[in-house]
Amino acid sequence: MASVPFDQLDGFIWMNGEFVKWADAKVHVLTHGLHYASSVFEGERAYGGEIFKLAEHTKRLHDSAEILGFTIPYSQEVINDACCELLRKQGFTDAYVRPVAWRGSESMGVSAQNNRINCAIAIWQWPSYFNPEQKLKGIRLDMAEYRRPDPRTAPSRAKAAGLYMICTLSKHAAEAKGYADALMLDWRGQVAEATGANVFFVKDGQLHTPDADCFLNGITRQTVIELAKRRGITVNERAIQPEELSTFSECFLTGTAAEVTPVSEIGEFRFTPGKISEQLMNDYTAEVTPKQIAAE
Ligand SMILES: Cc1ncc(COP(=O)(O)O)c(C=O)c1O
Repeated sequence: MASVPFDQLDGFIWMNGEFVKWADAKVHVLTHGLHYASSVFEGERAYGGEIFKLAEHTKRLHDSAEILGFTIPYSQEVINDACCELLRKQGFTDAYVRPVAWRGSESMGVSAQNNRINCAIAIWQWPSYFNPEQKLKGIRLDMAEYRRPDPRTAPSRAKAAGLYMICTLSKHAAEAKGYADALMLDWRGQVAEATGANVFFVKDGQLHTPDADCFLNGITRQTVIELAKRRGITVNERAIQPEELSTFSECFLTGTAAEVTPVSEIGEFRFTPGKISEQLMNDYTAEVTPKQIAAE
């Protein structure tokens, strides 16, 4: 079944301070963000009518813009309120929230000091199907050809559109070979992350995850570290060499979209989704479920 293109969905989009009809939320083809990747964005999920860690995501949106040299002309409070109001207006409880900010079309060229800074928020329905049995089979990852850049090469702490060029290339290459995603190494050749999610490994009952020193320190990553610590599981944030992949028993990805997704395969390496992955999957489900709903 063909899905409806995203520019033809229904409802409203919050754009530069106003709610506009979905179809009217347009930009001109000569938009700096489109040509020069001067754009930052967020990916958030609403569960049971509440946006999980909304304030943290909005702060990261603001910080990402500052890293790219511009200031979003709407306070974090205004953006938080707009996200909540839009979720209500769209009538969704379980949904994906996509704020984005970009340099406009006032001038074209590498320099765009005086271009308007635009900001928009779109929300679409995206229920989270927590089917633990299905998830516990694990997904298959290929090894990506591209590497996460040195922080001296690109502003790696920003959730910036430009950094996703190599992610799309890597994910497409993996999908063409029948894999779900790809594991990217970093500029030093150490294990980094997947194309849109962080990675964790299990060895002898402990968690191991790469230091987030050249890629996004995901909000889900930080949540899962906290959940693991609450369970008394030791978390080792450290440099991980690709040769070590053979020594880990379990592997899973974390991200707003991925949530906690077990991995069964990375290239030649095999993992068996087990107790720790399952525990953290369940703990994450409980964590994102609004307290009122959990109590019912
Ligand atoms: C490249 C990349 N790494 C990691 C993550 C995980 O971040 P978060 O848990 O904040 O969604 C994402 C998703 O936003 C991502 O796109």
